[in-house]
Amino acid sequence: MKLTLHIWRQKSPNHVGHMVQYEHSNVNPHMSFLEMLDVLNEELFAKGEEPVAFDHDCREGICGSCGFMINGVAHGPQAATTVCQLHMRHFKDGDVLYLEPWRAQAFPLVKDLVVDRSAFDRIIIAGGYISASTGSAQDGNNILVPKKNADLAMDAAACIGCGACVAACPNAAAALFTGAKISHLGLLPQGQPERFQRALNMVAQVKQELFGSCTNIGECEAVCPKEIKLEVIARMNRDYLKASWTERPPSARADD
Ligand code: SF4
Ligand code: FES
Repeated sequence: MKLTLHIWRQKSPNHVGHMVQYEHSNVNPHMSFLEMLDVLNEELFAKGEEPVAFDHDCREGICGSCGFMINGVAHGPQAATTVCQLHMRHFKDGDVLYLEPWRAQAFPLVKDLVVDRSAFDRIIIAGGYISASTGSAQDGNNILVPKKNADLAMDAAACIGCGACVAACPNAAAALFTGAKISHLGLLPQGQPERFQRALNMVAQVKQELFGSCTNIGECEAVCPKEIKLEVIARMNRDYLKASWTERPPSARADD
């Protein structure tokens, strides 16, 4: 297969970036998208040119390191698929592809297709933990969890923190990510002690970072490679509102 790639190249946050066109004639349909970029990089390296920087680690769709826009869609055209799991057989010979980094103020550019997603780490630090001692696996199994809650918690825990939801959102909101983290802990018995404080702290951290506000557009759900549902945002809002309400003095609550 042959592809024409237009790739965002930017040496550093202090350099001006621009699209660079590459004719890639060495593409095998069985390659993953990242393997296709590996081959391009080997060719660039052989010519003495700077390889294209992109993030990756597991290449199995489980770590959340990879991700960029392909023709304006976060993680590309295949639903529920990270770019490391996206295969070139989903593209046609002669396709023209535009690759760009996540564009969001809260994710400053590092280089080429790599952005700094440490804002997500700071949201996790603010509340993505439990203080309950969970013991060994056997102890965990002794705490009964309703099947429905276990399933919902597991679904929310599938979030890999890739940031595609932020990149796709016209507001660059982090609501799907934060809602997933708040849901997966808040649905389980072990997550109850910090449940409402967690919602307050994590949402406060989201506000401190440069994320926008959620207006329920739904682009995040559409591009999420782990199919996290918008319901997690509703659950986050419920916990946050309940926590804010109970934190207010009774005199203020009378005005509600
Ligand atoms: S909610 Fe989905 S798109 Fe957003 S960080 Fe988690 S896995 Fe990625
Ligand atoms: S490299 Fe780990 S999810 Fe893509």
